[in-house]
Amino acid sequence: MSVCCSRLVKNVFTCAGMLDKEEPPISGRELNKRLRDEAEMWAQGDRRDFWGHLTQHVHPQIPSHIQQSLDNFNFEHVKPGLAIEFGCGNSILVSELLKKGWKVEAVDNSRQALAHLQQRIGQTVAEKMDNLTLVCADMETYQFPSDTRFIVAKDSLPYCNPDKIVEVWDKAYESLEDGGRIAGNFFPRPCNREVEAVQRGMMGAWFTDKAVVQSLLDKESYEVETCEYSKPRYRELFYKEPRQINFAGQKL
Ligand SMILES: C[S@@+](CC[C@H](N)C(=O)[O-])C[C@H]1O[C@@H](n2cnc3c(N)ncnc32)[C@H](O)[C@@H]1O
Repeated sequence: MSVCCSRLVKNVFTCAGMLDKEEPPISGRELNKRLRDEAEMWAQGDRRDFWGHLTQHVHPQIPSHIQQSLDNFNFEHVKPGLAIEFGCGNSILVSELLKKGWKVEAVDNSRQALAHLQQRIGQTVAEKMDNLTLVCADMETYQFPSDTRFIVAKDSLPYCNPDKIVEVWDKAYESLEDGGRIAGNFFPRPCNREVEAVQRGMMGAWFTDKAVVQSLLDKESYEVETCEYSKPRYRELFYKEPRQINFAGQKL
């Protein structure tokens, strides 16, 4: 009886848009269709100056699922190797990885963003500068190296051409050594249509859902360590807190 009651309450909240709907697994064909639909709405543009300006500032927090991926290497006694920070901007994670002994390939198409990153690393972890390679390239055409141990794509894949996501995703998987990990996030469609329009038009963002991210992880047979919305939907509705779809997977 109590199970029925809680299911009823959950259904009511879901219908009212305060909780996420169940997302059953989707086929490869449905994955491609959803990405194609997004590609049709995607506002392509050259935003390198826009990002170059924004990346003067560093966001100081490392998301817990990315930290967890790093900790998992420690638990497994895996030594630091080559990490790629994909769409790196001026990411705090680059300095953290360098401090821990990783070699980092930092990829971004904004020269200004890379210059900000280089300047900050020079001021904070200068002794590790030799372990940092800056690569000015589009995510869509970047040539991944082989034997990568860790790929981080935080707040970057939602700006990569959605029509190219599967290709990029496949190349990332190929690049990873066995036991390597990928971690990052995508963006779910915001509840607020004005926010959505600004993010699409000004920032070139596109949106997806958890079923698509799960399907991408399953496609490559990753061992899924995280695939979840960062916050419940009601927090976005009532408290205007933006959400992500966080993911982390290990290549077995
Ligand atoms: C929101 S920032 C995230 C930066 C960093 N990953 C972090 O979490 O702090 C997005 C970054 O992606 C880069 N970017 C956007 N589109 C890109 C593309 N097509 N190819 C390469 N980099 C791109 C931008 O220049 C920007 O630095």
